[in-house]
Amino acid sequence: MEPSVTEKKKIVLSGIQPSGLITIGNYLGAVKTWSEIQEKYNCVFMIANLHATTVRQDPAVLRKNTLEAFAVLLACGIDPERSIVFIQSHVPAHAELTWALSCYTQFGELSRMTQFKDKSARYADNINAGLFNYPVLMASDILLYQAGLVPVGEDQKQHVELTRDIAGRFNGLYGNVFTMPECLFPKAGKRIMSLQDPAKKMSKSDPNPKGYAALLDDRDVIIKKFKSAVTDSETAVRFAEGKAGINNLMGIYSAFTGKSYEEIEAEFAGHGYGDFKLAVGETVADAFAPIKAEYARLMDDKEYLKKLAAEGAEKANRIARRTLDKVYRKIGYL
Ligand code: TYM
Repeated sequence: MEPSVTEKKKIVLSGIQPSGLITIGNYLGAVKTWSEIQEKYNCVFMIANLHATTVRQDPAVLRKNTLEAFAVLLACGIDPERSIVFIQSHVPAHAELTWALSCYTQFGELSRMTQFKDKSARYADNINAGLFNYPVLMASDILLYQAGLVPVGEDQKQHVELTRDIAGRFNGLYGNVFTMPECLFPKAGKRIMSLQDPAKKMSKSDPNPKGYAALLDDRDVIIKKFKSAVTDSETAVRFAEGKAGINNLMGIYSAFTGKSYEEIEAEFAGHGYGDFKLAVGETVADAFAPIKAEYARLMDDKEYLKKLAAEGAEKANRIARRTLDKVYRKIGYL
């Protein structure tokens, strides 16, 4: 992580909640980019298990999902030799900085977060203070590592903007303590839509599992979900206004194959939606097959995974402590 004098790489931080499954949205919006930028930047990636308890969790399931999510990241090519990979609850500075920064974040700012509004409507019987304060925890994740870049999907943009506001306010009061972070969006895939309702974001908490395809789904399940993807009443595969379902599938196909929309239109000229949906499903299933195999291999040795997580936490802890100490000094905590 310590950049050398000649090579000052930017620092990247991002995270993912351990919610049981990783969708194509998570993969294309975030994890795929993570695996591709590890040479270019000093990267820090974490499993956000503290964020996960903003909705009620079964303790045993949360523990299991956390280790599984860690294994999925490694299977996707996140390399613990090159990047720091850890589990958020292993680094106490995240919770500690959250308290400090809560005192520099306004109630009004947090009330305006669209994800808070959505989630408090969805979990009306459990609108807890953690759900409200969630963006401050996310700001702490980012600011502890002095990250300049945050590779995320578009739904996290508002949280990163709030992080900038908090950092700017703190720096304004105490001098240059935090690096200003920016979002890093993928070229294709920053907002993958539901396969059943292309007006809605693809989400792992969708009660209808046909709305998402998950990384660990079986090959035929993935293909079936794409075959039943909702499209429109036309027949031509082309990217256009009013064709949200096809546009979404073209975005997914483009992200996996690197083909432009023009190339995709040419490839499927004269073919119907059925052929196109099958091709997208097969492409996704082909891309996920080696990841699934690597995941299965890694899950065979949980002790090794735990050892890697502990090593990641140790490295993360050293960096996070440095920032936290500085913040405490600036604020005047004795
Ligand atoms: P989470 O776990 O909901 O999602 C992980 C990543 O996947 C992206 N994503 C999508 N991208 C495109 N299309 C979609 N349909 C889609 N659905 C999800 C998300 O934008 C995200 O990048 N709060 C974060 C986790 C987090 C974090 C952080 C991220 C905690 N601390 C610090 C960045 C920096 C979350 O709940 O992501």
